[in-house]
Amino acid sequence: MPHDAVPAISDYQPTLADDRDAIVAALTAPQKHIAPKYFYDARGSALFDRICELPEYYPTRTELAIMRARADEIAAAIGERACLVEYGSGSSVKIRLLLEGLRRPSAYVPVEISRNHLLEAAAEIAREFPALDVLPVCADFTQPFELPSPREPVARVVAWFPGSTIGNFEPDEAGQLLRVMRHQVGDQGGLLIGVDLQKDTGVLERAYNDAAGVTAEFNLNLLRRLNRELGGNFDLRAFRHHAHYDASRGRIEMNLVSERTQQVTLAGTVLKFAEGERIVTEYSHKFTLHGFASLAADAGFAVEQVWTDAEDLFSVQWLTARR
Ligand code: AVI
Repeated sequence: MPHDAVPAISDYQPTLADDRDAIVAALTAPQKHIAPKYFYDARGSALFDRICELPEYYPTRTELAIMRARADEIAAAIGERACLVEYGSGSSVKIRLLLEGLRRPSAYVPVEISRNHLLEAAAEIAREFPALDVLPVCADFTQPFELPSPREPVARVVAWFPGSTIGNFEPDEAGQLLRVMRHQVGDQGGLLIGVDLQKDTGVLERAYNDAAGVTAEFNLNLLRRLNRELGGNFDLRAFRHHAHYDASRGRIEMNLVSERTQQVTLAGTVLKFAEGERIVTEYSHKFTLHGFASLAADAGFAVEQVWTDAEDLFSVQWLTARR
């Protein structure tokens, strides 16, 4: 795919090697863990796209249905000449839907850690919306980065954080990320965010244990990536995917469980695993409306509108800056 249709990329070049020490420290901690942002190499991003299509994985299609049904109200809330900043630009269908509904958007800033994914998505949007200033930023959005300057006047900066990715952060990190977004959008700005809701355990656990095994592949792909990019020798057959819902904490916990006692070398460090020992690879928090509103308020946002589906599976929320 030609990338020349896209203006210059702001490239902060995040690589796994930059984070080597932090990754090794997390994998030698008493409770081994790794941040879920490392799922998204090229293969991980492609597997995540497949997860979004799975019959058990309700969040993507439910969020899309809400956005389709509420496109006019969403566009009215955001207003004209917005600069739309998308955090983690994996959701090409959703962004099209949003951009088509918006009134004369000034600029679109996709921020994404996976460079090829970012460039392809940005090139396609630039082709489909020739009047739109597309300004891709290759960055880990949990780290500080500067917003590029759009060429058109901007009435308001709007952060767009779909898919309930906010749920992948622990509450204090989620609060910190919302504060960073609040700072980036400024006093006139807003945040349009997808927030997954608490529900029946069976529905939740099926969504993270699909029958086709795509989520298991997505989870195990982390080890493949560590082998390739950090000189690891994980045996992928010696670990299995596990996901369960912890109702008391309101979160899915995803693990890789060691099938046997084993030693693995990673970046020159020996990692020891007991049989049944797990690496925590992801939390996916599910919210109550009240719980999310108070998280947002602590970060300086006020919830203005909440749109849900008929079964209250998922919500799309419009937040504005509170001064
Ligand atoms: C990206 N994130 C919101 C997904 C989720 O549901 O927490 C990642 C995912 N992990 C397993 N399936 C999907």
